[in-house]
Amino acid sequence: MTHQRNILITGGAGFIGSHVVRRFVTKYPQYRIINLDALTYAGNLENLRDVEKAANYTFVKADICDADAVGKVFKAYAIDGVIHLAAESHVDRSITDPLSFVRTNVFGTVTLLNAAKDAWKGAFDVKRFYHVSTDEVYGSLHDGGLFLETTPYDPQSPYSASKAASDHFVRAYGNTYKLPFVVSNCSNNYGSHHFPEKLIPLMINNIRNNKPLPVYGKGENVRDWLWVEDHASAIDAVFHKGVVGETYNIGGHNEWKNIDLVHLLCRIMDQKLNRPEGESAKLITYVTDRAGHDLRYAIDAGKIERELGWKPSITFEVGLERTVEWYLANTEWLDHVTSGAYRSYYEAQYAR
Ligand code: NAD
Ligand code: DAU
Repeated sequence: MTHQRNILITGGAGFIGSHVVRRFVTKYPQYRIINLDALTYAGNLENLRDVEKAANYTFVKADICDADAVGKVFKAYAIDGVIHLAAESHVDRSITDPLSFVRTNVFGTVTLLNAAKDAWKGAFDVKRFYHVSTDEVYGSLHDGGLFLETTPYDPQSPYSASKAASDHFVRAYGNTYKLPFVVSNCSNNYGSHHFPEKLIPLMINNIRNNKPLPVYGKGENVRDWLWVEDHASAIDAVFHKGVVGETYNIGGHNEWKNIDLVHLLCRIMDQKLNRPEGESAKLITYVTDRAGHDLRYAIDAGKIERELGWKPSITFEVGLERTVEWYLANTEWLDHVTSGAYRSYYEAQYAR
């Protein structure tokens, strides 16, 4: 069967990538979706069980830093669109191992850009390279402002510096080689299939297991949370309707101090686990702060709302309750991903 489009999604076995793959495979049967993922500790094919047999879906295990393997995929599948999500994504890991972030996020992105440039050879009519990035490239807010697409880059962690570098390379390829690109910078995502090294799934897992809830510093840091399926719908809108060369900020208009969020999660979990009110909150433990911890992120998502007609579909309260329900219904998934290597990571990260 000939497909209308052959879209390469990188990092499709990860948290956000698996939601994007699921959305595209099910919503667009006329497209062929090729999911290229190296299956690092964060990549999990269990995230895609429900779509893995779909006729328009193919999985390729490969590293985005492997130019040969990436080039072959472009050729074999006549790739005409890329949605690039593969990355090292956890700030704490970037503090202990910055070079692996430079490798994947910078070298890997440039390898992918080269593959697109070489495969498309200047015939760019229907082609599109979509780079999925983060609001952390803008640095840390210390007042009431919001990040706009025009906010100067000011990354503060090895993770955000590596993502900022990758964003710069994408725009440089647009300027130098006329590669047709779009970029989006999104705030913190939450939802199902989120690896439990990140705040929300880590807290859910620890509450479930009656383990201490490690809040960094005083818990005063603020994040702007967006339901992952709303990020996937924004990616769909930017991929199809975004203007080449443009950047779109994506966010939830939903700022929470970490400590307030952890208390809300404790209340939801007390109800779901039939615990007396206040029981889970007793597990809250303040621990050493993250080095160089960004105080606040908050996105102005006005541009994507005005120009592409996107907005978040659900409230945080609804999304968080759905998320908790998913984790409690999928304890097997949690047990699988928290076995083995995750245990050694957890012990090293929280031993300080
Ligand atoms: P994740 O860590 O859950 O998944 C990353 C995926 O990339 C995994 O499947 C992993 O196996 C794969 N991968 C890693 N290195 C690879 C390599 N060298 N080659 C091929 N595949 C590789 O990440 P996520 O949270 O789903 O984030 C996805 C993207 O979205 C990242 O680019 C991240 O910077 C960006 N982002 C994340 C958030 C968030 O809140 N999680 C917010 C904004 C932007
Ligand atoms: O803003 C978008 C970014 O959001 C993405 O680009 C990143 O890939 C993603 O990991 C996320 O980064 P954060 O550092 O904001 O997310 P994390 O879940 O690691 O932490 C959220 C907040 O919670 C942060 O202020 C640190 C704090 N925290 C985190 C952990 C893991 C704790 O207090 N305790 C913890 O154990």
